[in-house]
Amino acid sequence: GKKVKVGLMGMGTVGTGVIRLVNGHKEDLHNQTGMEMDIARILVQNPSKERALSVHSELITDDPYQLLHDPEIDVIVEVMGGIEPTKSYILEALEHGKHVVTANKDLVALHGAELLKKAAEKECDLFYEASVAGGIPILRALVEGFSSDRITKMMGIVNGTTNYILTKMTEEGAAYEDVLKEAQELGYAEADPSSDVGGLDAARKMSILSTLGFHVGMNLEEVECKGISEVTKEDILFGKKLGYTMKLIGIAKQDDGLIEVSVQPAMVKQSHPLASVNGVFNAVYVYGEAVGETMFYGPGAGELPTATAVVSDLVTVVKNLKLGVNGRGMVAPYKEKKLKSEEQ
Ligand code: NDP
Ligand code: HSE
Repeated sequence: GKKVKVGLMGMGTVGTGVIRLVNGHKEDLHNQTGMEMDIARILVQNPSKERALSVHSELITDDPYQLLHDPEIDVIVEVMGGIEPTKSYILEALEHGKHVVTANKDLVALHGAELLKKAAEKECDLFYEASVAGGIPILRALVEGFSSDRITKMMGIVNGTTNYILTKMTEEGAAYEDVLKEAQELGYAEADPSSDVGGLDAARKMSILSTLGFHVGMNLEEVECKGISEVTKEDILFGKKLGYTMKLIGIAKQDDGLIEVSVQPAMVKQSHPLASVNGVFNAVYVYGEAVGETMFYGPGAGELPTATAVVSDLVTVVKNLKLGVNGRGMVAPYKEKKLKSEEQ
């Protein structure tokens, strides 16, 4: 049968995981979807760079048009990051009728509505599960699992890098700069790690969660945001003595239709489950009027965990291709947004 041809944009931490998973789980993926997936072309910045995983050199290119203008390529998997030229590539891919899977929270938080509109126009899929909480399928849970409920609150730890740093500072008294460097070496941090430690990465994720959970068009600048750059080892160790653990917490609330979304460092009681979410792990509580309290926990960053989210999106695209139902799964925000800050 026909193979589904995938154009992979980016072969860094996540891109490498995507190749490992698509190739390593080939048979299972084929059995599930009834179609074979083939990574046909890989876009990178520097084709001569030495890579952790070896692939055929003819697959690698630094010319985006070898992916975007190849009529054989059905799906673009974007794991290169950044706003431009990435946004233009995705729009062009959609314009050519290619489905898109992305892990790019920067882009989704800022331009998600525009990209989704283009995808709908072209009857293309556009999925971005990996953009929030790495390996935890939280977006799928919000969009599908809780579609019958009204979500009132989402709260938790949605940045792996800062949680890794805070954990090591709390447990080992490690120095901030040393642990940040470790998180970068492990591939957890963003290309510009100031967005992790400054709280912006978590704010992007809370904005995406709020858009999907509350069915409103949330803007990134409406998320109040404070990171961990000013948190000292002394603050952390003093809190620890008093029975508290420092965590970077995102909270999105909807009270009487008034929405409030924020990210800030907070002292969490050691007996609270969030205090035991350590290292690169993330956890998100979701509260619904009917369901009550639920909690999602898992690795928030890293090569293979993030790749599971990307490749699961890819599996959905392939299943939709098989059924000819691409571009029909999206629900646009339908509620008017009222912010608590505007009421005061
Ligand atoms: P890396 O920096 O490890 O990899 C980026 C890749 O994209 C590299 O292969 C690079 O090429 C390529 N690239 C970057 N810019 C360009 C460009 N302008 N043209 C062509 N190729 C380009 O990033 P990650 O894998 O860590 O992250 C990728 C995306 O996934 C980001 O959006 C990130 O926010 C998101 N994400 C990352 C997670 C993680 O744990 N790392 C978790 C969840 C989401 P070259 O190799 O030649 O330098
Ligand atoms: N830099 C991000 C983090 C990657 O540390 O959580 C996962 O989105």
